[in-house]
Amino acid sequence: MSRLAVYPGSFDPVTRGHLDLIVRTCRLFDRVIVAVSNNPSKKHIFSVNDRIRMLDDNLKGNKQVEVDTFSGLLVDYLHARKAHVIIRGLRAVSDMDYEFQMASMNRSLYPDVETVFLMPDERYTYLSSSMVREVARMGATLDAFVTPSVRQTLKRKYKGQG
Ligand code: PNS
Repeated sequence: MSRLAVYPGSFDPVTRGHLDLIVRTCRLFDRVIVAVSNNPSKKHIFSVNDRIRMLDDNLKGNKQVEVDTFSGLLVDYLHARKAHVIIRGLRAVSDMDYEFQMASMNRSLYPDVETVFLMPDERYTYLSSSMVREVARMGATLDAFVTPSVRQTLKRKYKGQG
């Protein structure tokens, strides 16, 4: 039986921290579905197609990984994909409250699901997509935080701003 994990998130945009977590997940599971949330009521700077494309660009060649999108409840998506494991990154203690609430809610909605928390490399402890967006808007160098293809996409997005 192959071990399957779902790594859900906004990925707005994907950072080196997310990619580090995907590599770690691949060491523990046979297959990983990176599930990009498509929630029209949540404000994203990139469309779901752009967010998927940035992930695809950075993950092509990795046969363990599939990039997909979901809308509605995450647990319904897990059920549809016959998956029982959710991967989430824990950077600092400050993530814990939100993550704990989410994991508890998901568990009560779908008791067969387990949330597995992974720590990214410490270089990415204080990295988040929102910080990347802010720094990109101000025109700062982003090489340490995102890959060149994501940097280009951010550059295009913020051209003429900041
Ligand atoms: O990268 P993010 O924004 O922290 O990811 C959050 C995400 C998309 C995983 C979470 O908001 C989610 O699962 N949304 C789907 C709706 C849902 O299932 N809500 C109930 C659990 S809180």
